[in-house]
Amino acid sequence: MKAIEIRNKYLNFFKNHGHVVIPSAPVVPENDPSVLFTTAGMQPLVPYLLGQKHPAGTRLTDFQKCVRTNDIDEVGDNRHLTYFEMLGNWSLGDYFKDESIAMSYEFLTKELGIAPEKLSVTCFAGDEDCERDNVSFEAWKRAGIPEERIYFFGKDDNWWIAGEEGPCGPDTEMFYDTGKPKCSENCNPSCSCGKYVEIWNNVFMEFYKDKNGYSKLEQKNVDTGLGLERMTMLLQGKETPFEIELFAPVMDKLKELQSVDNIESRRIIAEHLRSSMMIINDGARPSNVDRGYVLRRLLRRMTRHLSKLGIDLSKLPDIIDISISSLEELYPELNTNREQIKNVIIEEKDKFMRTLQNGEKEFEKVVSKTKNAGKTVIDTNIVFNLYETYGFPPEMTEELAKEQGLSVDLSDYQKLFKEHQDKSRMGMDQKFKGGLASSGEMETKYHTATHLLNAALKVVLGEHVHQKGSNITAERMRFDFSHGAKMTDEEKKKAEDLVNEYIKMDIPVEKMEMAKEDAINMGAEAMFLDKYGDVVTVYKIGDVSLELCGGPHVTSTGKLGHFKIKKEEASSAGVRRIKAILE
Ligand code: ALA
Repeated sequence: MKAIEIRNKYLNFFKNHGHVVIPSAPVVPENDPSVLFTTAGMQPLVPYLLGQKHPAGTRLTDFQKCVRTNDIDEVGDNRHLTYFEMLGNWSLGDYFKDESIAMSYEFLTKELGIAPEKLSVTCFAGDEDCERDNVSFEAWKRAGIPEERIYFFGKDDNWWIAGEEGPCGPDTEMFYDTGKPKCSENCNPSCSCGKYVEIWNNVFMEFYKDKNGYSKLEQKNVDTGLGLERMTMLLQGKETPFEIELFAPVMDKLKELQSVDNIESRRIIAEHLRSSMMIINDGARPSNVDRGYVLRRLLRRMTRHLSKLGIDLSKLPDIIDISISSLEELYPELNTNREQIKNVIIEEKDKFMRTLQNGEKEFEKVVSKTKNAGKTVIDTNIVFNLYETYGFPPEMTEELAKEQGLSVDLSDYQKLFKEHQDKSRMGMDQKFKGGLASSGEMETKYHTATHLLNAALKVVLGEHVHQKGSNITAERMRFDFSHGAKMTDEEKKKAEDLVNEYIKMDIPVEKMEMAKEDAINMGAEAMFLDKYGDVVTVYKIGDVSLELCGGPHVTSTGKLGHFKIKKEEASSAGVRRIKAILE
């Protein structure tokens, strides 16, 4: 069974059991700066788990694109992935344990045809916060799991929460027995020897955890998650996800192109490429902070491993094409955005190669100095200097050092990094204030024009466009935005025309004050989110634009005159710059 068939079976099964199929949220969360990536199907549903009414009802199902990067360094082994797809079904105060367990059992054994004797399950053993889950125990027995394959564990194994705070509860987990021998007499599903593989997690979310401890939610929810790649691998009798149809063609191609054999490198390339494409497709671009930094790390690590295999980097576009071909059945948007995705990846690869060339000599010096001094560890200061001056990410220095038989001391790295960040933030603050301090009539007009241009670029180029910076004088505006490719003349013309159309419509510019959270929930654009307090000023220009901004702005768009783009050029990786005037 292919991954797409498993996904379709899942969604259809739950549809037939009264669930509404809702679309996957983007892997780069919309309007939620508090998390880097969507890590579970429940994440976009939190307000509804807490009691808000979901427009689609109380029984939902979807596939959710997820990225989890805690284990990024483990990728290369036989199981870790940074991107994966989670199939899920939810009860929002509707059914609870009995029905949830009955449906899971039916799906696994009837729809997927898993032999019942291959299944073991675990339940919550109970503690001072929550009682032992005998209800699930009974439900599993009724479904057909014999007592000896039902295990009880404590919070470490059978309690689920996303992070430190939020909706949570005891869970029941389903395990597939691979048929490998028990590693010891006590071997059980909580053991990591590989005999038992977790396939599905049903969380009974009836609690909320905060700093003060646990409280009961208004409603009893069910939140489930089934990893698509893992299930596909098991049903196909494969040992690793890299052998299923989503990865195998890329793995084969890498083998064909390589001059040095290394299966870990092939896995890292195939995995990081897929993850990066999904992240880029949902709008993130490589940078030195947050999501952009994770993306940069994935792309740079991938590039390094291509070199390690001795693969000519000019082959990268072909490798991307093969990966898209294997994935487009699941994600047709990868095909639609193929050129843009390629451009971002190749631009970052080129940038990285220049970085490497510049820093390689310095790194070699560091290695010989360290070795000559009879040391085996590279100092934090030196690692940081390699980052600050040569753009060597610390993880990469660590990997390269390892190849030389050295290790790195990262004990003070975070401290140095923070000092560096604070310094650049101070610089940004000044720029930010400076920009607003000197606002005469023309500057005010240009401020409003940046909002219109931002909105127009989203229409012409796509929703991935976000403001990355701006600089305004009385004579002109400069506007930086995320986009992976040079704009065509046609795109520039379209954007310019659209801004002039907004100007002609003479739309009123409204100033509003509101809680930051409400502004974000309304979908307001914000460039420097942490620069603002809890109450923010939002400027609304009809249906065209909604942005957090300190102003000042004109009262209606008709005051701007005629807008003209003078130049469009690269600013930094994945960021373009437009210079424009009002005449
Ligand atoms: N939210 C649960 C998980 O991620 C289903 O495992």
